[in-house]
Amino acid sequence: MNVSNLKRRFSLSITLIIFLTILLTIISTFMIDRESRHSEIINLSGQQRMLSQNIALLSLEMANIDSASRQKDIHRDLRSSIKKMSSNHEILTGDLRAGAFFESRIEELREIYFNEPEDLDNETKDFLNHANMLTKNSTIDLDNQHLLAILKTSPKLLISLDKAVSINQSMAEGDLLNIQVLFWITTLLLIILILSVAIFIFRPTIKEVEQDATNLEAINKKLEEAKVIAELANKAKSDFLANMSHELRTPLNAIIGFSQEIKDESPGPINEVQQEFVGYILESGKHLLSLINDILDLSKIEAGKVELELGEFNLKTLLENSVALVKQKALRHNFKLSVDISDDIEYVTADERKIKQIVFNILSNATKFTPDGRTIGVEAEKRDSGEVLVSVWDTGIGIEKRDRSKVFATFEQVASDYSRAHPGSGLGMPLTKQLVELHDGKIWFDSEGKDKGTRFSFTIPQKFPASRAA
Ligand SMILES: Nc1ncnc2c1ncn2[C@@H]1O[C@H](COP(=O)(O)OP(=O)(O)OP(=O)(O)O)[C@@H](O)[C@H]1O
Ligand SMILES: [Mg+2]
Repeated sequence: MNVSNLKRRFSLSITLIIFLTILLTIISTFMIDRESRHSEIINLSGQQRMLSQNIALLSLEMANIDSASRQKDIHRDLRSSIKKMSSNHEILTGDLRAGAFFESRIEELREIYFNEPEDLDNETKDFLNHANMLTKNSTIDLDNQHLLAILKTSPKLLISLDKAVSINQSMAEGDLLNIQVLFWITTLLLIILILSVAIFIFRPTIKEVEQDATNLEAINKKLEEAKVIAELANKAKSDFLANMSHELRTPLNAIIGFSQEIKDESPGPINEVQQEFVGYILESGKHLLSLINDILDLSKIEAGKVELELGEFNLKTLLENSVALVKQKALRHNFKLSVDISDDIEYVTADERKIKQIVFNILSNATKFTPDGRTIGVEAEKRDSGEVLVSVWDTGIGIEKRDRSKVFATFEQVASDYSRAHPGSGLGMPLTKQLVELHDGKIWFDSEGKDKGTRFSFTIPQKFPASRAA
């Protein structure tokens, strides 16, 4: 399953859900705001209704009562009611709320309040004017024109205010219904969206994931089976090679032994031709034996059956002895030998026999792939990391870039006129690499190219831990 596809699906669904939720919140806020404006107008209109009645009653009472102190009280109450009614009127005719969000809506509501119950504004102003005029006198009689005007306007005002309240109430109810409808529509949309996300996005995704998991399980099972088969095949190969090598080595030792005897003329004298032929038999026998030994070693390492026999030995001496081993050959081919082993290279803990084999394989390749008369060198030094670095360099045929991968591959040789003249089996370097890696070391080579010489280097830890030997 495509992961980026999955990510896209998830982000799309999340975006849609967030978008709808924000939409729902905005709509609800808007509707609630509308609703609160209605209730504000209803509340103020109700107050105006009560205040107008109060003012009418108090004015009448004032005209009826003679007691000066009582008149004073009524006068005071009357003034405060008028003040309250005027300020309410100002609120209703001015901005309902300073800095209101939905300006157009305020206009709309104001229009309903003042225009629908026609002349409510004028009636209120008229009423308040008369009431104010009335309070200018400390005493009044029943013929007072302002009192008569108040009593006349009051019922009209009541009817208009009632009308304003009922209009607002029905509008509020309508808006409430709208809120409910909108709320349900948006909730329904949200549910539909969530359901479609679940059905069209998550369900197929889950199915794909399940399918992938099943496929993976099947692949894993196959891999597991393949691994078991490969391990069995590898074991069979190692067993076969071990047995075969043993079976081959017994008669081969006889061939080598007896041809050596004949060459040494122990059973009796032989002529020159016979001497030459038996020499070939002996050489081929020895070559075959080393080949079988290499194959056996490699298969043993691959099967993990090789254990390091650790011991402490002088690496400097080992390297010098290895150089001595090729001295004869060097003399024959007129090689110049250069040895540069640093003094701090002395005792190392490793498998001495295997290190000898490593050095010998690299060194014999250097003598094999270097034309007569040139120089071969051995170097060794201690590294800061606590490892020992050994290099064998030559001024021989070199290794071209395109042949680099062949060097450490089994039975691979770089074909050239020169190497054809120096046959081998192509097992030396793969085996050497395995032996170095058994010591937790690294092996590599550098060559500038054809006829530019080669430098093989390997590192091993100075003290291979005994706990890792098995
Ligand atoms: N010093 C070197 N200079 C140039 N080429 C080299 C050198 N060492 C190795 N090679 C190349 O790497 C190949 C693999 O080396 P390896 O030692 O495995 O095989 P071999 O020497 O041909 O055979 P064997 O060692 O099994 O008798 C060689 O055939 C050769 O082409
Ligand atoms: Mg070799």
